[in-house]
Formats: sequence, C-alpha cells, structure tokens
Amino acid sequence: MARITYDDQTAAAFKAVREIPRAGLGEWREAIRRHLNPSPGMTVADIGAGTGAFATAFDDWFDLGVLAVEPSASMRAQIPPRPAVQVLEGDAAALPLPDGSVDAAWLSLVIHHIPDLEAAAREIRRVLRPGAPVLIRQGYPDRADATRTFPWEFFPEAARTTGTFPSLEQTCQAFAAAGFRREALESVPEKLTTLADFLAQVDVYRRSDTIIRGLTEEEFLRGKERLRRAVQDAGPETRTNWLDLLVLR
Ligand SMILES: C[S@@+](CC[C@H](N)C(=O)[O-])C[C@H]1O[C@@H](n2cnc3c(N)ncnc32)[C@H](O)[C@@H]1O
Repeated sequence: MARITYDDQTAAAFKAVREIPRAGLGEWREAIRRHLNPSPGMTVADIGAGTGAFATAFDDWFDLGVLAVEPSASMRAQIPPRPAVQVLEGDAAALPLPDGSVDAAWLSLVIHHIPDLEAAAREIRRVLRPGAPVLIRQGYPDRADATRTFPWEFFPEAARTTGTFPSLEQTCQAFAAAGFRREALESVPEKLTTLADFLAQVDVYRRSDTIIRGLTEEEFLRGKERLRRAVQDAGPETRTNWLDLLVLR
C-alpha cells in the first residue's frame, strides 16, 4: 500500500507538474550513464515507474529496453506508449519478471512507498542477472535536511513526513540482507522550475505529492504565503533540487 492513493486525479497532477523537465535532468543522465554503462540490448526494470518520466528518458538517452513496472492503473495509463517501453502491472515485492532476466533495476522516489523493503530487495535480487546494479534516486532523512532544499524550504513541516522515509542506513541494510553491497552514493542536482512557476503550480503539485499532502491546510497555506513573498524578490532563474543516487550491486 503506497502512502497516498495514485488515482486518476493524482496521476494527472503528477503528469502535469511532477515530471522534471528533461532539460533539467542532464546531471542525472551523466550519473546514470557512469554507473549503468548502458549498451544496446540492455534491459532495465523501472520499478514504481509512475507516469514513465524515467522509462522514456532511458529509452531516449541510452536506447535501452525498459520494463516499466507500476502498481497503479492510473499512473500506468499516463506512460506514453513506445516500442522500447513495456508497461507491466506489478509491485516491488512481486515483480512480473522471470528470474535473472534484467540488467539493472531503477527505483526513483519509490522506496518510501514500499511497506517491506527487505522483501522488495529479495525480489529485485531474484529478477536481476548476477552482478547487475540497483540504482535508487531518493532523499534520505539521515543524509540531508530536506527542509533546506527547494521546495521544502517553504514548508518546514515537511520534515514530519520526510523524517519517516527510510534512512540511507536502513535502505543499505535491507538490500544487504538480500546480498547487495553499497557501491556508490552521490548527490545529483536537478533543475526544476522558477519560483513564480512553482507558485502557479503549487495547488496541483499538492495533489500529487506525498510530502505536501502530509501538511495540514494551515501549514500548506503558510508555506504558500512564504512562497508568494519570495516570488516578489526572486529572479527568473530555475531552482535546483538535489537528490541522492545510491548504487548497490
Ligand atoms: C513518487 S511516484 C514516482 C514515480 C516515478 N518513479 C518518478 O520518479 O517519476 C511513486 C510511484 O511508486 C509507485 N508505488 C507505490 N508503491 C509501490 C510498490 N510497493 N512497488 C512499486 N511501486 C510502488 C506509485 O504507484 C507511484 O507511481
């Protein structure tokens, strides 16, 4: 059971405002390339693929086959159809894939939704070929103060929710129990929107986001007011967020 219900309204909001513009993902492209060593014919399982932002990016960037596994029918319906991306109903703890059939697993902003991370790690171990990597894009409460990064700097009560996400240590332990060891960890920047655009989208953003949905109405409105004031002094530059890329093998 995910922390929020990814129904039609949530999926449409996610598609509208949560996919990072491709131009803002340049550093991710290079970080993934370094750790994945992509080559034609490789198959990557995008677990919790959502609306397919990364599944389609992997196809465009690296010309790979992507198995986009996603439990929510509403999210799956938002994944653009293309020959290289096979969309499958499934859950991290029950992957619809044969043993030893996949060259890498990618999990972006998913692990906090997985109720039993050890069970998911065992399942990922089962479907990966020996020696294949797991790449995780995530923020960890023991790594960075989320409330000092955009957009959480405007919503300090976000820490109440982000503090309950799996820590880096818990994540590594869950995967270690399934035979993976930590190979690399790096912070990767991504360029989101201007502050003014974020303010214009924040109500839609709220519908799609686990962290903002964890705020009370009053906390959300206070944050929106902070944001409104900041927009008055802000320039047109695009805001940057940082997330971690954890590589396990
Ligand atoms: C925040 S979205 C991230 C989507 C996508 N990975 C991205 O980065 O754009 C989280 C996704 O995880 C999916 N999810 C929730 N629980 C899951 C589970 N147990 N196994 C796999 N995916 C899950 C949700 O349905 C949702 O699409």
